[in-house]
Amino acid sequence: MNSQRSYPALLKAEAWLRYFDDLGIHSFYRDRAGSSVMGNAPPVPALSGGESDLSDPVWNARDAAATPYVAEPQIAGIRLPTSTGERNRRLPPELHALVHPPSLFETNDPPRNETLEIIRSDLGECTRCKLHRTRHTIVFGTGNPHADLVFVGEGPGHDEDMQGLPFVGRAGKLLTQMIEAMGLRREQVYIANIVKCRPPENRAPQEDEVAACMPFLLRQIAAIGPQVIVCLGSTAAQNLLGTKKSISHFRGQWFDLHGAKVIATYHPAYLLRNPNAKLDVWIDLQKAMAILGLAPPPRKSSRERD
Ligand code: URA
Repeated sequence: MNSQRSYPALLKAEAWLRYFDDLGIHSFYRDRAGSSVMGNAPPVPALSGGESDLSDPVWNARDAAATPYVAEPQIAGIRLPTSTGERNRRLPPELHALVHPPSLFETNDPPRNETLEIIRSDLGECTRCKLHRTRHTIVFGTGNPHADLVFVGEGPGHDEDMQGLPFVGRAGKLLTQMIEAMGLRREQVYIANIVKCRPPENRAPQEDEVAACMPFLLRQIAAIGPQVIVCLGSTAAQNLLGTKKSISHFRGQWFDLHGAKVIATYHPAYLLRNPNAKLDVWIDLQKAMAILGLAPPPRKSSRERD
């Protein structure tokens, strides 16, 4: 295998393949005369190396320029750009909207009539990222499909992976207490994660895993149409808000995500390790309660507190 072949380049290639797959183009071949053809044609063996040979020049735009038989990708006779710079400059307008569709939160016209059932069925027995190899169960999300309040965590842990439900372990029990302190029941809110499969050893999800999974979360959020989204922890906050800043810089502040108000607070697992941060989280949750019109819980009398 070519040692210069970078993982991001492969990811980009994979993204293109997925994109074509979405367009209904399921097979690709190149002819030996020098033009590349994409379409629903019978696949032919790669010119060099076979299917698993990632040193095949078609994976690399720079190699492609130097290798005469490697084709420029085309669709419907329109040449597609082969590098990011070129893609930004030269993408034909008729393809621009397809290749760079607006995110759900940028478009004024999110898909109508989407239901969580449709989204779940589209997700299927997902193998879009490597997490599928080690997961036990997909954790889609749970709760009220019309919730005003959505909580988004990072990804399933061991208990969630075994049960197929988000936030059912120790951190989940604390989240349930937080929800109940807001005067709600768990079934009244919706709970989901940035990724739906457990990352091995509970590591943070990686960029490619988030990229594969987030579209489903965004569709879920659009289908639910909550007033408020609470991001639990930095992975949720950074990915939903599109920032790499540390959560401590923007925790407790309001952001707008296409009509939904978003606030980031600390993850319940962090609170298990740092109980002193519970007050900060409670302050954030009360801000969410104010938006949702939830009454603050009655103050306990000193006799009740004792
Ligand atoms: N932590 C998360 O971020 N999500 C879960 O579902 C469980 C623990």
